[in-house]
Amino acid sequence: MFLFLFSFFLFGSVLLFSLPSLDGFLSWDSADAFGVDSKGARENHNANARPCSSMSNGAYSLLNCIEKWQTEEKRREKILDKTLNKMSFLETAFVVVPWNYSLCVSTRYKMVENQSKLSELRTICCDRSGFRSDVCIMKGDVRTHSPSSSVFLYHSKQQSKFIDFISIVHRAAKRHDDEELQHEKIRPYTRKWENPIMDKIDKLDLIVKKDTMVTNHRCDVRHDVPALFFSTGGYTGNLYHEFNDGILPLYITSQHFKKEVVFVILEYHNWWIIKYENILSRLSNYQPIDFAGDKRTHCFPEAVVGLKIHDDLTVDPSLMKGNKSILDFRHFLDRAYQPRIKGSIPDKEQGVQLKLNQSASVPTLGRSMKINKDDQKHRVKKPKLVILSRSGSRALVNEDCLVKMAEEMGFRVEVLRPKRTTELAKMYRLLNKSEVMVGVHGAALTHFLFLKPGSVLIQVIPLGTDSPAETCFGKPARELGLKYIGYKISPRESSLNNEYHKDDPVLTNPKSVTTKGWQYTKEIYLDRQNVSLDMRRFHKRLLQAYDYSFKKINGQISYNQTTDLFKLC
Ligand SMILES: *[C@@H]1O[C@H](CO)[C@@H](O)[C@H](O)[C@H]1NC(C)=O
Ligand SMILES: *[C@@H]1O[C@H](CO)[C@@H](O)[C@H](O)[C@H]1NC(C)=O
Ligand SMILES: *[C@@H]1O[C@H](CO)[C@@H](O)[C@H](O)[C@H]1NC(C)=O
Ligand SMILES: *[C@@H]1O[C@H](CO)[C@@H](O)[C@H](O)[C@H]1NC(C)=O
Ligand SMILES: *[C@@H]1O[C@H](CO)[C@@H](O)[C@H](O)[C@H]1NC(C)=O
Ligand SMILES: *[C@@H]1O[C@H](CO)[C@@H](O)[C@H](O)[C@H]1NC(C)=O
Ligand SMILES: *[C@@H]1O[C@H](CO)[C@@H](O)[C@H](O)[C@H]1NC(C)=O
Repeated sequence: MFLFLFSFFLFGSVLLFSLPSLDGFLSWDSADAFGVDSKGARENHNANARPCSSMSNGAYSLLNCIEKWQTEEKRREKILDKTLNKMSFLETAFVVVPWNYSLCVSTRYKMVENQSKLSELRTICCDRSGFRSDVCIMKGDVRTHSPSSSVFLYHSKQQSKFIDFISIVHRAAKRHDDEELQHEKIRPYTRKWENPIMDKIDKLDLIVKKDTMVTNHRCDVRHDVPALFFSTGGYTGNLYHEFNDGILPLYITSQHFKKEVVFVILEYHNWWIIKYENILSRLSNYQPIDFAGDKRTHCFPEAVVGLKIHDDLTVDPSLMKGNKSILDFRHFLDRAYQPRIKGSIPDKEQGVQLKLNQSASVPTLGRSMKINKDDQKHRVKKPKLVILSRSGSRALVNEDCLVKMAEEMGFRVEVLRPKRTTELAKMYRLLNKSEVMVGVHGAALTHFLFLKPGSVLIQVIPLGTDSPAETCFGKPARELGLKYIGYKISPRESSLNNEYHKDDPVLTNPKSVTTKGWQYTKEIYLDRQNVSLDMRRFHKRLLQAYDYSFKKINGQISYNQTTDLFKLC
């Protein structure tokens, strides 16, 4: 009996520490946890490092945790059965009380009566099944220790007393006070499959310790809401990556907290906080914490470490609570930028308003005549077209010609060269009012997220970029409900045409080149290629976009375009 009890303890305590907290995953999107089962992991381990993966994983969950938990539960039941059968009532009470008898028994019926008791099990539950990221959950007494890049979870009093007691009785399993009961390592960034970039991400150590250590690790700041740890290192600085690897996963992982969550950021950048202020303040009511820069001990009742991510620039409703989709994300963006836009952007519009007021005091005759004339000419609304301009590589060398043609066609045209510092709210305001956006494949196209569903995105696809063009922007744009036009250039429209013989595979069969490795795509097609649009060819697509937009905003078919606009330049 003695032996049996002893082995039960050893085994039992191991189970105790490896059990995830049920509370942890229940507070998680449960659709996320279970919605994946049938889909399974759609993984592709051959993917190279690339700015935009072509694999479509995303099926991703805490399923592992649950499975693990269920398996452990079964094992525990068996042990418990044996134990209960062989023990006297007194011993039974003795063994189960610290766990709580009703809890143990009820798990046998797949019913956990009281979830909060499970959270007393104090373990770290990590889901490492995702292709793109790992996520760990800690629940209980969570304390940060920035100097050692660690986050501690202190074991509950009740259990450690039990353990202490057993240890004394059996003089076995002697544990040092500072012994780690569980230790997980994690880099909280969403490009798990890309080793070179992951190696640059700060690592966090998540450690479960006995609560006797708590006294040496006092809280400087107590928070009564959960923490969410993530990194803004890696490819942050590139708009595509900022949204794809950061903002969207942050939305996916944190929106259900309803702003009652504190962001703890590794590789914290002030500029990033400022740039995404409007968004961050709609996801969290609290000031973000710079993990490396703030050496104080922050204490939390719960911590989620790492971000969940679905597919490229999208939100998979089947993995979200309440079926939330990329459209919900866009509504969210709209609300996020609303105050900034309605409020205080010191902008042209207010300037325009001022000018109008001033001119109102000017003698009116000439002005009103002019307005009448304009009225006649513009009884119809002109659709707005935004051209995202690039310099350096993938520049549109005949951009001027495109502008001329689009204006002639009837568009109001705006050419933008967004910089890293361009305020996103301004881009949002402009694109939210535009009907068409045109740009050569590149990170700036991420701004398509700011277009209203039903608008048109024309992506000019240079040679050799078909796959990233589709994965990064084509598919996500369609998912957002945009009319997407992918314009694949012909070799004649590529500047590579001047560098390679017309029979060179670089021109004739880009796929044979790009399949050799990502660096070929990058060095040849992404970094060394400009585009000169064949206006005769492009004209058709633009006209298609024009007719569609014209009809959308005016409710009627546009007048027939008879001019050969492409002959303009
Ligand atoms: C165990 O749970 C029961 C009912 O849920 C409760 O009455 C009892 O006090 C608990 N025991 C301990 C030691 O927590
Ligand atoms: C679960 O336990 C908590 C405290 O441990 C208690 O407040 C709650 O009423 C319990 N719920 C049930 C269903 O027993
Ligand atoms: C979620 O969306 C799918 C299809 O888009 C629909 O079949 C399902 O009923 C929706 N579920 C909820 C809870 O709205
Ligand atoms: C975006 O456009 C919609 C519809 O035109 C409008 O209701 C909304 O207020 C706009 N959003 C912002 C932030 O200006
Ligand atoms: C312009 O005039 C209107 C009313 O005439 C007034 O409401 C508005 O505040 C004025 N705008 C500016 C910028 O002075
Ligand atoms: C592409 O165009 C830019 C100017 O916009 C120029 O600086 C660059 O050298 C060009 N690159 C190639 C490969 O033609
Ligand atoms: C445009 O031209 C075609 C034939 O050229 C004609 O059938 C059609 O009715 C015209 N559309 C409008 C809106 O004038």
